[in-house]
Amino acid sequence: MNLKIQSSRLESELAELAEISAIPAPEVERIVFSEQDMRARVWLKGLCAAAGLEVREDAVGNTYARWQGSKPNLPAIATGSHIDAIPHSGRYDGTVGVLGGLEAIRALKESGFQPTRSLELIFFTSEEPTRFGIGCLGSRLMSGALDASADLKLGDSAGETLRSVRQGAGFIGDLSSTRLPVGHYAGFVELHIEQGPLLEQRGIPIGAVTAIAAPASLRIAIEGHGGHAGAVLMPSRHDAFLAAAEIALALEAAARSTGAIDSVATTGICEVFPGLVNSVPSKAKLEADIRDIDGARRDGMITSLERACTDVSARRGVKVTTEVVNRDDPASCDSGIVGTVTTVCESHGIACDRMVSRAYHDSLFMARICPAAMIFIPCRNGVSHRPEEYSSPESIATGVLVLAETMARLAQGD
Ligand code: GLV
Ligand code: MN
Ligand code: MN
Repeated sequence: MNLKIQSSRLESELAELAEISAIPAPEVERIVFSEQDMRARVWLKGLCAAAGLEVREDAVGNTYARWQGSKPNLPAIATGSHIDAIPHSGRYDGTVGVLGGLEAIRALKESGFQPTRSLELIFFTSEEPTRFGIGCLGSRLMSGALDASADLKLGDSAGETLRSVRQGAGFIGDLSSTRLPVGHYAGFVELHIEQGPLLEQRGIPIGAVTAIAAPASLRIAIEGHGGHAGAVLMPSRHDAFLAAAEIALALEAAARSTGAIDSVATTGICEVFPGLVNSVPSKAKLEADIRDIDGARRDGMITSLERACTDVSARRGVKVTTEVVNRDDPASCDSGIVGTVTTVCESHGIACDRMVSRAYHDSLFMARICPAAMIFIPCRNGVSHRPEEYSSPESIATGVLVLAETMARLAQGD
C-alpha cells in the first residue's frame, strides 16, 4: 500500500480547530453544545463533505461520516474520537483521532483504495464530563451503557437538562434512537495521544492499546456548621472544608496504598460555602475521580473512600453523603485488531509497544458493541489536559498511517 499522509494539511486543520475556542490560544476550551462546539461541528462536517463522505447525526449529536464500501450491507469499520475540550486544555486530545481519522480516510481514497466494508469516521458527543458531569456521553448512549432516562436526569450547572440543551442545539430526536446494536460495526479503532510519558520515554512511536482502565467518579457533599471565623471557638467547630480535606487525603492514601502504578485517584473539584475568609465553611462539595485497570482494585479504593467519609463524619460531627456518578468496568481491546495494528507497524519497521490506557476514551464503550482497539502516539512529556499538550507532526503522521492501514486491512476482512 502506498499511502501519502498529508501532514501539512492535517497540521493546519488541527491549528484551525484549536482556534475555535472559548479562551485565547494556547489554551483551548470547547464545551459540548457551546457556540464553539457548534461552530467546530459545522466546520468539520464541511471537511467531511468535501472528502466525499456522507454525514449523519444522531439525537445527541454523535456525528457519522461514511465512505460507502463495495458491500454496504456488511458491518462497517469505524474510527473517531471527540472534539470537545475541557477548559484550559490543549489542541490534541481527541482532535488527533477525529482529524487524523479523516486524514486516514482521505489518504486511502487518494491512493485509489476501494474498501469492501464501509469506513466511518465518528465524532462522539461530550467525551469530557465538563458540562453534564459524566464522561463519554455519546458513546455511553450508543452502547446502551446509559439509557434515555439520562435526558432528564442529566443537567448542567445552569440547571438545564440534557434534553433542553441538545434540543436547543438542534438535536431533537428521541434519545433512545442513539443506541446501536451489538455487531453494528465490524471493528472500531481510535487514534489518540497517549496522555502519559511512556512512549516518549522509551522512544517508541506507536502504542497498541490492549485494555482501558475502569473509571469511576463520586460526588461527596459535606454539611457542617458555619459561623464567625473569630468567634466560634476551635473545640466547637464542625468545619465542612476540613472534613473535605481529610476525605481527599484519605482517598490519596487509598490509591497509594495499593502499590500498583495503575491505581489513580484525584479530587479535582472542591467547592466551599460560603467561601469567605472570615466565615467557617458550613458546606463543602467534592468530586473524585478513581481509576484502575483492575476493576476490583478500583472498587477497593471506593470502599476506602466511603469508610473515610463515615469516619470523618463521626469524628467531626458533620453530615457526609456520597453519590456514585459512574462506576464503569474496564475494557479489553480486541486481540485481532491489536494484532493488525502490530502487523502494520512491523510491515513498516515502526516500533510498537503493547500498553494499557489509564485515561478513558469512547473506545471503552465501543468495546461493548464491537471489537475495538486504540492506537497511541507519544505526546511531549506525557502532558495532556493542559495548554502545553503537544504531539509532533511526525508522530501524528505515523499514527495516521498506522490507523489508515489498519482500517484498510479490517475493511477487506470477512
Ligand atoms: C478523558 O479525558 C479522561 O479523563 O480520561
Ligand atoms: Mn480528555
Ligand atoms: Mn480524549
